[in-house]
Order: sequence, then C-alpha cells, then structure tokens
Amino acid sequence: MSKTTYQFPTGFLWGSASSGPQTEGGADEGGRKPSIWDHWYSLEPSRFHNEVGPTNTSNFYHQYKEDIALMKETGHNSFRTSIQWSRLIPDGIGEVNEEAVEFYNRVIDELIANGIEPFMNLFHFDMPMAMQEMGGWENREVVDAFASFATACFELFGDRVKHWITFNEPIVPVEGGYMYDFHYPNIVDFKRAAQVAHHTIVAHALAVKSYKSLDLGGKIGTVLNLTPFYPRSKDNAADVRAAHVADLFFTRSFLDPMLKGEYPKELVVIMREYDVLPADVRDEDLATIKENIIDFIGLNYYQPRRVKLKEHAVHPDAPFMPNHLFDNYEMPGRKMNVHRGWEICEAAIYDMAMDIYHHYGNIPFYIAENGMGVEGEEKFKNEAGNIEDDYRIAFIKGHLKHLHRAIEEGANCFGYHLWTFADNWSWMNAYKNRYGLVEVDINDGFKRRVKKSGRWYKELSDNNGFSE
Ligand code: BG6
Repeated sequence: MSKTTYQFPTGFLWGSASSGPQTEGGADEGGRKPSIWDHWYSLEPSRFHNEVGPTNTSNFYHQYKEDIALMKETGHNSFRTSIQWSRLIPDGIGEVNEEAVEFYNRVIDELIANGIEPFMNLFHFDMPMAMQEMGGWENREVVDAFASFATACFELFGDRVKHWITFNEPIVPVEGGYMYDFHYPNIVDFKRAAQVAHHTIVAHALAVKSYKSLDLGGKIGTVLNLTPFYPRSKDNAADVRAAHVADLFFTRSFLDPMLKGEYPKELVVIMREYDVLPADVRDEDLATIKENIIDFIGLNYYQPRRVKLKEHAVHPDAPFMPNHLFDNYEMPGRKMNVHRGWEICEAAIYDMAMDIYHHYGNIPFYIAENGMGVEGEEKFKNEAGNIEDDYRIAFIKGHLKHLHRAIEEGANCFGYHLWTFADNWSWMNAYKNRYGLVEVDINDGFKRRVKKSGRWYKELSDNNGFSE
C-alpha cells in the first residue's frame, strides 16, 4: 500500500503546553505565596488523588535547564507555560517579587537560547489566595489587579516574549469553582458563576488593551477548550436544539466576546428567562470587550460532547444549571481512551478548525492542547525501563491527519502543542493521568526519562509532518 504524507506549512510550530502551578513546585520558595490550590489542599487533602498536593509539582523551578534541554531533544520549537501571579506579585496587588522576575527571566532566556519560542500565559486556574480572600473574580478590584499584573508581565518580559495568552480555559474555574464543586471556593450558584465569567472576560479584555497600548511588537491571544457538541440525532429537531443550547453556554459564551466583541444574543435571552444573568454588567465593560479583540486563538481539544434533549425531569429545588436544558448522550460503540475514560473523536478537530474558518473570520489559531492521559502508565515500560507509548503516537497522528485536512481546506492554523511536555500535577487528579512525552518519576527525585513518543515527536518536528 502506498504511503500518504502529511506535510505541514513552513514555519509550523511544534511543541507542548504546561503551566506554572502544575510544573514548578517550589511553592514555598523564592517569595511565592499561596494560591487557592495551596489553601484548598491544606483544608481538604483527601479531595486530591492519593492526597498529592501542589507544593512539589514536577520541580521545574529547579530543573528547568534540564527540562529545556529535553524539550530540544524532543523536537520543540515552541513551548507554553504560565507565569504564576502568586509568584510574581505574591499579594496579588503591589510589590513585584524580584526573585520571581529572575526565575522567569532565566526560563525565557534559556528557551530562546535553545531555539524554543516562549508562549507565556497569565492565568492557569491559579488565583492568589490574597485575591480570593477579597472575593476572587466576583470582585472588580481583582479584575483591575489582574490587569496590573498583566501589564507588569508585558513590561518585564515583553521584549523577548512575542506570544502572550491571557487565560487558559477561562470557563474551567467558572465551572469548577461556582458550578460543579471541583475547584475552590466550591460554590454552587449559576448566577454567581455567570458574574465570575463576565468579570473574567473583562479582565481578559483589559489585559489585551494594555498589551496593545504598549506596542511591543508581539501578539496576544487566549486559549479556550472548545469541546464540540454533537446531537444524538441530526434528524431530531429537539436533539439539535439541545446541542445548540449546550454550545451557546459552553462554547460561544467565551468565543464570541473574545473574537467578535459581544455576547451571543440568544444566550442572553435564555439566561434572562431563567433569571441567571450576572447582576453587574456595565456599559463600559461591554465597550471594553468590543474594542479589544485578540490577534490569535489557541484551541484545546481532548474529547467531544454528545447531547440529547432533556429526557429526565430536574428536581424543582435543584439550583439552575445549563444541563437542565439538555442531557448528555453516550454514543454506543464510541472509540475510547479507556485509560482516562474519555471518548476519542479525531474528526472533531477538523470541525473546530472549520468553525473558526467559517464563523470567526479565519483568525490565526493553533492547537494549544491535545493529548492522551493514561493512568498506570508504568505498565507500558519495556525491559530497559522506557515507556513504549505507541497509543500516544497513534492518538497524535489521528488528530494531525484531520488538522491537516482542515489546513488544506484553508484553515489558518500555525501550530500544534501537545499536552504535555513532561508528566505533571493536574489539580484534583494530581499525578493520576500521565500525558507527557517525558516520564517524571515522583517517587525517585522527579527523575525524567524520555518516552517513545518523545523520540517520535522529534522526528515529526524535524520532518514538519509524517508519512503513513
Ligand atoms: C486541560 C488543562 O484541560 O486538561 C490542564 O488545561 C489539565 O491544566 C489537563 O492538566 C489534563 O486534565 P486531567 O484531568 O486529565 O488530568
């Protein structure tokens, strides 16, 4: 059988994504103060897998040089991490921590010296505890404090960092912290969630405004998790409507204000009907959102969501949640990543790309996260002790084929970042699901060992594609 070659555009970015809180460790070092994660872990350690907390995540704070050498070895020409607000400005507002400035300078300089383009993100679920004590995203003073933190980052590092990201998956702290009880402060109240979402979007727009006013010659974007919604039956109007409503709440809610400058009107109508619109939305907020559109977008994609019309009644006293308007649907025979319990649907990456192409002016985008989490990955070690993760290579190839198809049809995609470079700490899941190209042994001094996928990723990047 003849081979097909999937060649990507010249200058395509190959790399991976991670975040400060998930990799740095050194939570109590270098002048950093607690974030909500340190605080929540101190209150309820049992809510974290195997009670592994955020203090000593993968030790990047000390091993960054070794890690960056391994990035090079695994073919990275770009890499995303985040600047921890709680490290740079430990009280959220006020003094910049010079030790943090030195650390992030060293990381950025080391990346550039190794030919790796730094993508710097400003918020990856990690609200400083001092800010949460003031009410977190419910308080406008925190919105302004974030804008000042963002400006400090641009001024300190913007001479070398040319790709900035305001937020990673900003909907997740809304869901986790104010709807579904998987992030601190564990509130279940949709109206407050909507306020948090609105303030997050204003904070994002203020950061974009600040960056553009500084004229540093780079680009600013954001990273959204755009899980596509598919109806159980395309022929059933109620199923199609259910998928549309779910999509309004979970996709268009952030995508539209960030790319089109306004909230979807239909979503506002539904939220008004259920009396869950945020209490405080000002004209000046809407003007700020309208005037500050991003330059590019990063798309995170792991799994699709399938929905059907609401078939099960909701208890009349249950707090309002969007899924009062649809039910989740499990498609029989769906392809699964059994190690993580998530569906694998490679073609959805094509649908996401074409959504941006058709409905958002074909703005430049990159895949900012895609990856395969595996629990108990040690069982795939060979005799030499190296993880043979052929399943991860197949997963990446499967998605790249569909991304390639979208690019051939005109989608404006400039890169692919895998989640993640080296196994890292993942919030309540701690080290349960391993995603790295590089293994991190948390029981043996955070020892790194390149997996088979890491070696393959180098070939992929060197060849700017692959053949099969
Ligand atoms: C992404 C997040 O959505 O999923 C990461 O941006 C997270 O921060 C990753 O670690 C993997 O999540 P999980 O739950 O499979 O460990």
